[in-house]
Amino acid sequence: MGESIRQRKEEVAALRLGIDLGLTLIDTAEMYGDGVAEEIVAEAVEGRRDACFIVSKVLPENSTRAGTIAACERSLRRLKTDRIDLYLLHWRGRPRLEETLSGFEALSDAGTIRYWGVSNFDVQDMGELYALKRGPVCATDQVLYNLRRRGIEAGLLPWCRDRGIPIMAYSPIEQGRLLRDRVLTAVAIRHRATTAQIALAWALRQPDIMVIPKAATLAHVRENRAALDIRLTDQDLAELDRTFPPPKRPGPLEML
Ligand SMILES: NC(=O)c1ccc[n+]([C@@H]2O[C@H](COP(=O)([O-])OP(=O)(O)OC[C@H]3O[C@@H](n4cnc5c(N)ncnc54)[C@H](OP(=O)(O)O)[C@@H]3O)[C@@H](O)[C@H]2O)c1
Repeated sequence: MGESIRQRKEEVAALRLGIDLGLTLIDTAEMYGDGVAEEIVAEAVEGRRDACFIVSKVLPENSTRAGTIAACERSLRRLKTDRIDLYLLHWRGRPRLEETLSGFEALSDAGTIRYWGVSNFDVQDMGELYALKRGPVCATDQVLYNLRRRGIEAGLLPWCRDRGIPIMAYSPIEQGRLLRDRVLTAVAIRHRATTAQIALAWALRQPDIMVIPKAATLAHVRENRAALDIRLTDQDLAELDRTFPPPKRPGPLEML
């Protein structure tokens, strides 16, 4: 969102409809649309800020202690709010993790962020994070996860589960590339659903995974909300496993 001025109205409307339907967690980042995505979120949540849970992210190049605090203040201005509910390090960069965590702590103490977490952290990064004094406060790791990208199931996911850290699954329909899959379509027909809904229901089958599809079309927002009510059967899951097999061994974390 925020990448084309012509789509701005529709993007705001899609977010507003999402809020109406109870999809109140909104994921954004200083990077998206060079800050414009955060302005779109501000417009969408106007008058309903307290009903929403806003997630934003600091870019690695800004993630020194002072840089994190300054980036958060810029995001707050664009978001027209006094707090970010969850603030993530977008991916690992050069600044030491201690630096970023010290920035997060200062922001938490000031009440400008409620929780902090990370994104695109693999098991090794999480291990390093956890070894730090404040590391275990981390609220989430936001990573790529969908039927075609199941790598985390062999390493990161159980690691996080053992420590009670929920995962946020980004690009759950592989940016639209899962939509024409034959097996997904067959499962969708059985449920009188769409392929996108089945891809979302599959990611949502696990209670400790939050799923954050992007939809800037009103019809897509409605469909995605309805996906929360779909329960896949053992037969569905077995068919999907045959086409999209779970990983046999841990591999490097994929990113988009
Ligand atoms: N932390 C990270 O590094 C990272 C990286 C990538 C993404 N993310 C986050 O994850 C979010 C989602 O990821 P994403 O945008 O990469 O991929 P995605 O959610 O898998 O796919 C988005 C695409 O799917 C379409 N779509 C959505 N719902 C649909 C439906 N029901 N039927 C058909 N098409 C549908 C959207 O179209 P319309 O827009 O036209 O509705 C859009 O083109 C992003 O918005 C971002 O917040 C985070």
